[in-house]
Amino acid sequence: MFYSIAKKVMFTCDAERAHDLALGSLKRLAHTPASLLWRQQVAAKPVTVAGIRFENPVGLAAGLDKNADCIDAFGQMGFGFIEVGTVTPRPQAGNDKPRIFRLPQAEAIINRMGFNNKGVDYLVNNVKNASYKGVLGINIGKNKDTSNERGKDDYVSCMRKVYPHASYITINISSPNTPGLRDLQFGDALLDLLQTLKNEQLDLQAHYDKYVPLFVKIAPDMDNLAVSQIAETLLKSKMDGAIATNTTLDRTLVKGMTHAEETGGLSGLPVQQKSTVIIGQLRQAVGPKLPIIGVGGIHDIESAQAKLTAGANLLQVYTGFIYRGPPLIKTIIDGL
Ligand SMILES: Cc1cc2nc3c(=O)[nH]c(=O)nc-3n(C[C@H](O)[C@H](O)[C@H](O)COP(=O)(O)O)c2cc1C
Repeated sequence: MFYSIAKKVMFTCDAERAHDLALGSLKRLAHTPASLLWRQQVAAKPVTVAGIRFENPVGLAAGLDKNADCIDAFGQMGFGFIEVGTVTPRPQAGNDKPRIFRLPQAEAIINRMGFNNKGVDYLVNNVKNASYKGVLGINIGKNKDTSNERGKDDYVSCMRKVYPHASYITINISSPNTPGLRDLQFGDALLDLLQTLKNEQLDLQAHYDKYVPLFVKIAPDMDNLAVSQIAETLLKSKMDGAIATNTTLDRTLVKGMTHAEETGGLSGLPVQQKSTVIIGQLRQAVGPKLPIIGVGGIHDIESAQAKLTAGANLLQVYTGFIYRGPPLIKTIIDGL
């Protein structure tokens, strides 16, 4: 009821304005009685993945709370885990506006935000001040004006700062909105990046006496061969898991719709099948052990179940959550 009214209001505004208004309100009201509007109790469906205990397998995907401003409010909604970021070492403005577009006919979004964020120090400060005690993933990237050759330094510098505060760290090399970023998914560039980050993780583990798993987030726009090459590199570099998938560049399923030709990554229903296929291929290639977080077009229990059947151990939602609100979390958890 609350979400259907809030959605009606928000969907009359420009998408980014609605996003900013919603996050501003969640942040301001999280510790007031108004939080009863979105607080919900969900059934405990605990799972242990990558050595971490999750209260339930339904998480918030990266990109909604880029600066970790609203962790407490999202925790109150019953998510089993929250992923914040993508964060970069230095603050950056992202691409020019408008840069988020709704395609309601397809329950989809196209975005070309370009890693707009307030920088890693701001994010870490928010995490330190939050009351949320659940599982927190921190998703890291590189600044736009850092070349791919120096990209490693950005990931390392973010990793050092977020390590003591994260339950797991996501290495995002799959956003379509930072020029050249997806090139890091392939060949020697990937192996070199992941081996460097693995070594850094082991140093940080010794320093903090705490092991923080590393997950690598991949794109849906690749064939089976590319997936198996990535899988091989994930295993070789001893990554702890993968997140599949980010948004797609493919516009086949939205052809002719308003905004379909906007530049950026497409999410929601049109990426659902694609990401499920990638999860299946990845599971096939990595074997039964490597944890996979499935994300892309989950908007009901059937689409959630399909990701688990394809081989995911955990789930994340973003676009489905924008269209369906907090009740989606409960629907999935109850249905599992
Ligand atoms: C507006 C918007 C911003 C996003 N920003 C990020 C981001 O900063 N980092 C990231 O890893 N993924 C980002 N994503 C991708 C989502 O985390 C998710 O992988 C993708 O949207 C597919 O899931 P969905 O269909 O449930 O939205 C973003 C998605 C949207 C719609």
